[in-house]
Amino acid sequence: MKGNLDTVWHTPLVQRFWSVFGAASIRIKVMGIVLGVIVLLGLFVTIQLRSALYDTLETQLHVQGIGISDNIVLRVEQLVSGDLSALTDYLQGTKTHYTGSGHNTLVDYVIVRNPDGTILATTTDGAPPPEIEPSLPIDPDDRIHKLTTAWGDVIDVTTSMPNGLIVQLGLGEDSIEEITNTVTFQIFSITLVMIVVGFIAAFLLTWILTRPILSLVEATRAVANGDFSRQVTRWANDEIGDLADAFNTMTRSLARAARESGEREALREDYIRGVISAQEEERKRIARELHDSTSQSLTSLLVGLRNLEEANDLLTVRTRIEDIRKVVNNTLDEVHTLAWQLRPSVLDDLGLVAALGRYIEDYQHRYRIQVDFVTRGLDERLPIALETSLYRMVQEGLTNIARHAHAKNASVLLEQRQNGIRVIIEDNGIGFELDRKADSQKSLGLQGIRERTQLFGGKLTIESQAGQGTSLFIEIPFAVVAESDTG
Ligand SMILES: Nc1ncnc2c1ncn2[C@@H]1O[C@H](COP(=O)(O)OP(=O)(O)OP(=O)(O)O)[C@@H](O)[C@H]1O
Ligand SMILES: [Mg+2]
Repeated sequence: MKGNLDTVWHTPLVQRFWSVFGAASIRIKVMGIVLGVIVLLGLFVTIQLRSALYDTLETQLHVQGIGISDNIVLRVEQLVSGDLSALTDYLQGTKTHYTGSGHNTLVDYVIVRNPDGTILATTTDGAPPPEIEPSLPIDPDDRIHKLTTAWGDVIDVTTSMPNGLIVQLGLGEDSIEEITNTVTFQIFSITLVMIVVGFIAAFLLTWILTRPILSLVEATRAVANGDFSRQVTRWANDEIGDLADAFNTMTRSLARAARESGEREALREDYIRGVISAQEEERKRIARELHDSTSQSLTSLLVGLRNLEEANDLLTVRTRIEDIRKVVNNTLDEVHTLAWQLRPSVLDDLGLVAALGRYIEDYQHRYRIQVDFVTRGLDERLPIALETSLYRMVQEGLTNIARHAHAKNASVLLEQRQNGIRVIIEDNGIGFELDRKADSQKSLGLQGIRERTQLFGGKLTIESQAGQGTSLFIEIPFAVVAESDTG
């Protein structure tokens, strides 16, 4: 069915029609359809009614003709034995009587004929009498015929009398014409009125329909130009009203999306700024470290070498070389530590779990804090950006514990779940007041964790109370993670 419609739709004729009609505005289309339907309906009703009315009136005229004819026959029977002029007068009187203003029947002629068809008496006054039809003798069931005569179209009723005479009565069809013409004219007038009413109704309807559509079009253009604040009025509770509502919901969503992407952009800029300043801090620290320890060590190496130059005996040389070796060893250690702190190569080579394992081992020795490190489900490598972020977040959490918590124990849980990654960093230290924001501008650690989490579409929750220890819950949805390879 649908296929058939498609085939019809794609025929060149339909397409050509649609290319013309389809290009017209809705107003023209609706008004064209309404006017077309009214005109067709008017025409159809006029033709139907006219022919039905004509038929009815004609049947009525036949019945009437038979009635009049039978009356005349009765009278002619009485008059025919007397004076012929009395018969003619009677016929004339009958004709005048029916043609008078009291009747809407028009008698065109009355003729009395002899059995052989010759005229006995007539009202035709010299006009050529109509031929008798059908041929004699007259069949009582076939008395009525439509003839074209000197009086125009006539209903001819021919009756045979018992004595053989023939009475022929002609009834004019003018009255039928007149009535049907009057009725046709009335229907025509009504159609005209309907056209005017239909025109006004179609105009109003299209105005009601197109006004909200035009305002929608205008608003859509505004939205396309970036104005998401645009809302349209819901004019009515119909489909177009629903469309207006859907449009408003859409622009609100667009506005929200634009706002959110703006916020995300701002967050990203903040983060980049934070990263840059953190890099600067890191450089300062490295510079300090190089100055304070490495260059100190190299200076003492220099002094040691000068002393070696001045040594005279082998024993002294040996002792000094031994000292220098220790200094070189220490320096090597320092450089190694420095490099490792900057970026543990194990993170790139062996992955997050191994890198954190090493970091935590080192951390436990350094700060004398017992750390439980548990991982679940992290069998495969994550995107490197995410691994680095997770590493830095755990590092910051543990550094905070060492710096602020006065804790003996801490734990780190790293878990890959079906819908994301969860990290929990806990300690049994002194805790802190969460709503204390006094030095929040200087403290970047927790804020950095939150920003990194948000960049991956995740969420940081901190639970802490004075004396109760601190817990950081980091949750990052995995779907977003999978797309954020470059993040
Ligand atoms: N595990 C913890 N135990 C107790 N207090 C904590 C803990 N973690 C954070 N805090 C408190 O929250 C504050 C904010 O921490 P945050 O890491 O943001 O800044 P910071 O460590 O002071 O400075 P930095 O910017 O160098 O990290 C800390 O100064 C500390 O008072
Ligand atoms: Mg910190």
